[in-house]
Amino acid sequence: MTPDSARILVVEDNDTLRRGIAVALRERWEEVREVGSGSDAIECISDAQSDAFDVIVTDLRLPGSDGISVLRAARERDPGTSVLVMTAYGSIETAVEAMRSGAFDFVQKPLDLDQLELRVARGVDHRRLLYEVTELRAEQAARQASDRIIGDSPALRSALDLAKRVAPTRSTVLITGETGTGKELIASLIHRASPRAEGPLVKVNCAALPETLLESELFGHERGAFTGADRQRIGRFEQANGGTLFLDEVGDTSIATQAKLLRVLQEQRFHRLGGSQLLRTDARIISATNQDLGSRIAEGLFREDLYFRLNVIRIHLPPLRERPEDLVDLAHHFLSELGAEMRHPLRGFTEAALEKIRGHDWPGNVRELHNTLERAVLMAEGPRIDAEDLSILVGRSAGDDRGWRRELPAEGISLRDVERELVIEALERTGYVQKDAAALIGVSRRTLNYMIQRMGITHPAWRRNRGAEDAAEQPARRAPSDADTP
Ligand SMILES: Nc1ncnc2c1ncn2[C@@H]1O[C@H](COP(=O)(O)OP(=O)(O)OP(=O)(O)O)[C@@H](O)[C@H]1O
Ligand SMILES: [Mg+2]
Repeated sequence: MTPDSARILVVEDNDTLRRGIAVALRERWEEVREVGSGSDAIECISDAQSDAFDVIVTDLRLPGSDGISVLRAARERDPGTSVLVMTAYGSIETAVEAMRSGAFDFVQKPLDLDQLELRVARGVDHRRLLYEVTELRAEQAARQASDRIIGDSPALRSALDLAKRVAPTRSTVLITGETGTGKELIASLIHRASPRAEGPLVKVNCAALPETLLESELFGHERGAFTGADRQRIGRFEQANGGTLFLDEVGDTSIATQAKLLRVLQEQRFHRLGGSQLLRTDARIISATNQDLGSRIAEGLFREDLYFRLNVIRIHLPPLRERPEDLVDLAHHFLSELGAEMRHPLRGFTEAALEKIRGHDWPGNVRELHNTLERAVLMAEGPRIDAEDLSILVGRSAGDDRGWRRELPAEGISLRDVERELVIEALERTGYVQKDAAALIGVSRRTLNYMIQRMGITHPAWRRNRGAEDAAEQPARRAPSDADTP
């Protein structure tokens, strides 16, 4: 942006004065628009089709909406816009108020056009500097954030490129990929490389909450909105204002919740449960899912219109078994990281171990690799990780077509026992993280939770953290009861 190409808006109801200002500013700047009322100004400012203005010169007393409302609309659209207010001679309090509300500068009437031009020029420079700083910061953040993302496969590189390209925009992003492929990692990269990096990154795991709780989690509720709502609660949409809202496992939301999500995304407005006030949100939406939304739509489990809203920019992370280059890079990276962490430095992998790693299917992807190596570092006795240290590959390997080959014994078998065994195996493999275990055996988290209860499976860590988990991570432990319903 050179100063001459700046976009400027002049808001003044006195026609002669407004034209005089516009003519003077047009001598120097390319695009100078003029409007005569506050409401016209707000309409211009909020027009999403065009870029935000660089500088807005506005009178304070206006028909329609006043100058302070114009100022607010401008700041809401883009806090980088420099707003210059014009005040009547002697009304210093209003100038002070405007400055407090975020005006860049003020000029007093009667106007000195040279003075005005000078301040507009300062406003344009200020805006340009801000812009450059933001760009630089985003670039640096993107570099730092992606430093921690390992792998150089073409597939990962193109996902990262796309992530860096969308980061500076407000575009809605949908990240798809199997469990453990790095969706959350990419979401936080986008946030940290965006102009919203200083704002909050708020994560909601849509699969972890029963529907009734999910709504109050997302939108908040007023005191008394339903039985048990003894306090007002600020929802995630509100918390994420000015930042990014990460809707994780969005494919697992109910149709009813999807309808509500769609409405917020369309209107950027919502109510708290039980509230009448319409709230606005300026949150950038990134969502992720390991579900195949196409087939969810076909089954009538996911709304197509919501899908189109979420799927503006799609970043897909292929499974690890499709990027063997990354697999080996990641294995080495995790080995040195874990070795240092556990004070057990190892000199790499034996050839047999590498072969075993390459031959495995990695249904749990990067997370599974990490967990496997964590155990391997603990187990290893030699200077390198050997094949025996890798406790993987039971039942599944790349060669055998997702590898489920257990035979029915001649004397028969109890299906319940087999099921229980598999559930336990899935839990063990994922370090007893229910969400990951559920993904591994292709059931919803709620179903897994139900199975765990029915089968009476317990783990010391669950009991230890019960209080905290009930509130956040694993609230679906008990079946939703009437008490949950508003
Ligand atoms: N390319 C990578 N480089 C380094 N670490 C990675 C990479 N990809 C994933 N990871 C790590 O693997 C783990 C799983 O990644 P993440 O949580 O982002 O997966 P996910 O796709 O969100 O999985 P899920 O669908 O189960 O939620 C994290 O610890 C993450 O840091
Ligand atoms: Mg995730």
